[in-house]
Amino acid sequence: MSENQQHEHFVIEGLAGKRTLSGTVAIAGSKNAALPALAASVLFDAPVTYTHVPHIEDVKRTYELLEQLDATVKQTDDGVVITTSAVGNGRLDAGIAERMRASVVFTGPLLARFREVTFPHPGGCVIGERPIDLFLESFVRMGATVEERDDVYVITAPKGLTGATLVLPVQSVTATETLMMAAALASGTTIISNAAMEPEVSHLARFLKGAGVSISGIGTPTLTITGTDGVLFTKPHTYETPPDRIETGSFLILGALCADKLHITNCLPEEVRAPIERLRRAGAVIEIEDTSIVVQSPEALQGVSVKTHEYPGFPTDLQAPIVVLLSQAEGESHIFETIFEGRLHYVDDLIQMGAEVRLISDRELLIHGPQQLSGRILKSPDIRAGLAFIIAASIAEGTSQIYDIYSIDRGYEHIEKKLQGIGLDIRRVSE
Ligand code: EPU
Repeated sequence: MSENQQHEHFVIEGLAGKRTLSGTVAIAGSKNAALPALAASVLFDAPVTYTHVPHIEDVKRTYELLEQLDATVKQTDDGVVITTSAVGNGRLDAGIAERMRASVVFTGPLLARFREVTFPHPGGCVIGERPIDLFLESFVRMGATVEERDDVYVITAPKGLTGATLVLPVQSVTATETLMMAAALASGTTIISNAAMEPEVSHLARFLKGAGVSISGIGTPTLTITGTDGVLFTKPHTYETPPDRIETGSFLILGALCADKLHITNCLPEEVRAPIERLRRAGAVIEIEDTSIVVQSPEALQGVSVKTHEYPGFPTDLQAPIVVLLSQAEGESHIFETIFEGRLHYVDDLIQMGAEVRLISDRELLIHGPQQLSGRILKSPDIRAGLAFIIAASIAEGTSQIYDIYSIDRGYEHIEKKLQGIGLDIRRVSE
């Protein structure tokens, strides 16, 4: 975080019930698809070009992690070109890795390539406990030894990783991605059973397959990967970052709340089927085209229940934004967060803004609407709840100030410019 960002906040003038947002918003490349794909550069002894990489803080930290490893990161007219030929060891920079949970995806390719990886317990959003047991246990099943020394994990596999059958007890997105990359350089065949089926996993798998990795079962819960026994991939390759489905869903929610007519372009509608289904059920008017969606706010929204679920279910990353929407819907809505146990901490602030929300367990909420929200001074607790606060401030009566916006910049590219472009009065202010 730069000095400046530490002292920046957003000031938002709420629309107070008006449905006036309109125009076009283009979706950026997906954060959670770009991050593992950038880590996959470690599997190559050739430059890899990445297009449509979002300009967000987590991506900048990932470039820094790569540079700390002695990789070169070059911005060109075609995209970002990463070459990891000069990387000589698997020691992840602790300062960056501790602050970004997604850094854990580097452990798979680094361990597979250097037979050793050193990293701290990865940090990230404050959305509950985020264990790494699936990673560690799977590496052990692939022949590695895990040691905790001082504040870091040291994982070694002096003879290289060996293919194994990995039955994941819970579906984990980054564990699936990490193990897929580890398996690509292991000896023999790895089967990942109960693999996560999130689109980001499939985008990574298709990219690896295009680069020469033998991988089947893409899009299913069973991935089979045959490794090269340490031989790096040498074909120069390009990764086209797909559009961000969470940003798409967030603008759909904002549009359903307060847009006269909002065109969301450069998106993949098939990846947001579950949010679209819930929003239509709540009354939003949504038209789907090939790579764009048009959303209009209805006269009145109706309460619906939402249960977060692994893909293709309703994404946990849209849980906070949809709670804001449901605070404006008639009747009662029930929310059940099934993925993370600590992801409802932001509701106190919504209650202070006037939402009628009752926490009925650490995973469940009851919402009664509609209640007009009032502007407030807020602190963004994490990427997704931070965006939910922007949405809440947009529909509130009066002015809101949102602090700690580095956490929002971690995941959304030029968010205030996009919102200004569709008619919201939002400013980034430096103190
Ligand atoms: N889990 C374990 N052990 C592990 C790993 C995960 O028990 O070793 C559990 C988690 O505690 C959780 C469940 O598995 O209950 C699923 O979590 P998952 O591992 O799938 O989450 P993740 O891979 O850490 C990714 C996204 C998150 C998104 C989740 C769920 C990235 C970089 N992050 O996290 O995105 O919420 O999948 O879809 O892809 C965000 O972008 O703001 C964000 C938090």
